[in-house]
Amino acid sequence: MMPTSTRRPSLFTAERGAPLVAPSILSADFARLEEECRAVMERGADLLHLDVMDGHFVPNLSMGPALCQGVRNHLPDTYLDVHMMVTNPGQFIEPFAKAGADNYTIHVECDEDPLELAASIRASGMSAGLAIKPDTDFALMEPLVSHFDLLLVMSVYPGFSGQSFIPEVLETTRRLHEMVGPNQHIEMDGGVDPQTATGCIADGCDVLVAASAIFKHDDYAGAIAAIRGN
Ligand code: DX5
Ligand code: ZN
Repeated sequence: MMPTSTRRPSLFTAERGAPLVAPSILSADFARLEEECRAVMERGADLLHLDVMDGHFVPNLSMGPALCQGVRNHLPDTYLDVHMMVTNPGQFIEPFAKAGADNYTIHVECDEDPLELAASIRASGMSAGLAIKPDTDFALMEPLVSHFDLLLVMSVYPGFSGQSFIPEVLETTRRLHEMVGPNQHIEMDGGVDPQTATGCIADGCDVLVAASAIFKHDDYAGAIAAIRGN
């Protein structure tokens, strides 16, 4: 039987504040996933980031709703932030909502209408995020910003963890920072480590995703604190 879920802390009821650290489990040891998820949450992480890849939108395959459900079953109180790097994210809104996802981020470059997707995501009980790749014209995202709870700026070309941070995307962050309200969040994803995190925070990001900078280190607590700037 599924554990009874207590109320999970929501990113989206609180105003933007101290930066939140979101380990991307893409770099976790998948054979020890429960242990890895617990370890980062017990060592200071605020939420978990799940990277979903379809082999079309990005040249890699990763995880689906069943894995999300497994994490949810074992960590009923952890906030799960799902990043959909897929061509057709509409098809997976209900499966991920049922699998316990809290936030569902789609890409502005996907094949579907972002505003219709945002409505469906909210109707299914999740908050809605909008992501942009490093080389996409910000003009595509700009008119949509007010319709989403979270704006995700990709600081690497999506598909793999372990790539180097692309500093030019901080311009996007600065523009978003001028536009968002107190209840919207700006998330940076890709190549975030204690050094690059400093610039992200200075330019307005309040959710920092990191895979290799956390899971490839022995000291998860130290890595998480350093990314947060402590
Ligand atoms: C990349 C994913 C990222 C990735 C980050 O396509 O969206 O979340 O896991 O990995 P690092 O932090 O190693 O760059
Ligand atoms: Zn991601």
